[in-house]
Amino acid sequence: MTSAAAGSKGLIIAIDGPSGAGKSSVTHALAERLGYVHIDTGAMFRVVALMVQRNGIDPVDEAAVAEVCQGLVIEFDPAGGSKRVFANGEDVSALIRSPEISLLTSQVAALPQVRQALLTMQRQLGRQGGVVLEGRDIGTVVFPDADLKFFLTATPEERGRRRYEELSAKGVAVDLQQTVVEVMQRDQQDMMREHAPLRRAADAVEIDSTGLAPEEVLAVMLAEARGREGQ
Ligand code: DC
Repeated sequence: MTSAAAGSKGLIIAIDGPSGAGKSSVTHALAERLGYVHIDTGAMFRVVALMVQRNGIDPVDEAAVAEVCQGLVIEFDPAGGSKRVFANGEDVSALIRSPEISLLTSQVAALPQVRQALLTMQRQLGRQGGVVLEGRDIGTVVFPDADLKFFLTATPEERGRRRYEELSAKGVAVDLQQTVVEVMQRDQQDMMREHAPLRRAADAVEIDSTGLAPEEVLAVMLAEARGREGQ
């Protein structure tokens, strides 16, 4: 596996952690500040789920789901742009964020053949460097030799509260306690999964974002990244 430190385009930075730890916004901001490409690997699994739904495929039929990945082209806007995601040239950014797709995504993300197909794509997208990849297994499986790794966490209560506020702002009627329970259930699923479970890489810098503003998290990451870029 290539380490990007030697490449001219920049570092390979991995950001892993559970849902609701604030990965997405901080990854986007970090990529923008460094002039890197932001690769949201969760969005890639979501695209597969969208295609499974559209084609009426049974999500437990692994061979059929894996076939969906063949020839599927997933692209991201270049650094500095929006968070848009394209599947075979179509902008699917909004479609992949529905609650139905979120649910279906965790099912397809557990399938080894799907993980393998996306692993190949993720390595191709990232290997030249100048990238910030966010996900669950970037520092452990996708780029174990990444130049810089972060593991971003927050307490389940904090992550549940953030999710609750996000949904409430969208006008969705939700219960705070229930949201916290769901966050903990999802953690269990992600950590107990057989293939590429969520865990912190031994060499990852752990940041607990509980009580921290996004700018504070970003400042820590930027300082680490600039230190490595200069090496
Ligand atoms: O980060 P997210 O909520 O968009 O992730 C969607 C789903 O994909 C979630 O169930 C976790 C899973 N996922 C994964 O298994 N591996 C990754 N590298 C990224 C996401």
